[in-house]
Amino acid sequence: MPGPTIRVRQGERLDRVFLNNLPQPSTIHWHGIRIDNAMDGVPELTQSAVPPGGSFDYGFTLPDAGTYWYHPHNRTWEQLARGLYGALIVEEPEGPDVDRDEVLLIDDWRLTETAEIAEDFGAMHDWSHGGRIGNWITVNGNGYWSSEARQNDRLRLRLINASNARIFSLSLKGLSGWVVALDGQPLDVPEAAGQLVVAPAQRVDLIVDVTADAGSEASLVSHERGGSYAVAVYRVGPAAADRRTEAPEPLPANPLSLPGPLTTARTVDLVMDGGAMGGMRGAVLNGQDTDIRTLVSQGKAWAFNGQAEMTDTPLLSARTGETIRIRMDNRTRWPHAMHLHGHHFRQVLDEERMGPLRDTLLMQSGETTEIAFVADNPGNWLLHCHMVEHSAAGMMTWLRVG
Ligand code: C2O
Ligand code: CU
Repeated sequence: MPGPTIRVRQGERLDRVFLNNLPQPSTIHWHGIRIDNAMDGVPELTQSAVPPGGSFDYGFTLPDAGTYWYHPHNRTWEQLARGLYGALIVEEPEGPDVDRDEVLLIDDWRLTETAEIAEDFGAMHDWSHGGRIGNWITVNGNGYWSSEARQNDRLRLRLINASNARIFSLSLKGLSGWVVALDGQPLDVPEAAGQLVVAPAQRVDLIVDVTADAGSEASLVSHERGGSYAVAVYRVGPAAADRRTEAPEPLPANPLSLPGPLTTARTVDLVMDGGAMGGMRGAVLNGQDTDIRTLVSQGKAWAFNGQAEMTDTPLLSARTGETIRIRMDNRTRWPHAMHLHGHHFRQVLDEERMGPLRDTLLMQSGETTEIAFVADNPGNWLLHCHMVEHSAAGMMTWLRVG
């Protein structure tokens, strides 16, 4: 692990046969792609889970350039934690002027004292708290990832948080530069890269210059409660050229529809409840009001609009092309990484200002925020927390478009 990095050009088609050699059913979800709904890889919503020994033909075009990834969408809390994921890179027709383009898939693993994967999948304590947080951080599957670079090199770094639930707080040392894209979508104007908070499933594209001296190290540093650690290291060699002085050009925008006037847009509410210390007394499970003790005994600990499970009816049905606002109210004591399938959205900051396009938004405990997007991709699409224990324990709903 990780799985192979798949690189395709923007507008091209990707065809892959998924052969399931696992002892459990699985699917592949192509995270962040504005994909044909039938290829989205969501069991029971867009396809049946592929049984052990079975296969599924995935084939779709890639409308947007950027940094994406793929991962299973069945028992994700186990399959992802065991390392089933890889990067999916969609290249711009003309990429930025850099010396190197590098994928850095960041993960945390929960290992036992003998360095085996801890088998405590499904532990209710994780599911009702912050999810399965690991004790061993890797980049591209390596706990001591390192590489070479030359002083003054300009690198494109594609950070992908593939962990089940860990929010990474990262910074650069001996590297300085700009954030040029988030969740695959270019920023209108590159922003100076400072502290980078990367929630599960989020991506950050950076263009950075190696500023460390030859003979020293440049690194990506993770800030944890117990201290700061270099998770990826470049050993810096002598410069081959002068340091560039110009900031990178913005990456070319992708052909997305941007939300229209918000005043006329329909707004739907999503109330997020539950989790440890959240005081949720009960929620609907199997169509019935269920008290919290019973919910927990069934592996549920969270609820969206009072439902601890996927419902037969969607959270909303949108006309194709309709601008939708979803007001999300996090009444839990935990942060959540809210992910919408098949679309990118913008966070509504106020009636005039919107945040960058994203497919996964980190929400803090107690925060209420709105997202807006054009529902222009027909089909059934999930909206869920990407802390995968949370979605399994109730934080999952869906929308219908068209
Ligand atoms: Cu990467 Cu439904 O998720
Ligand atoms: Cu969550």
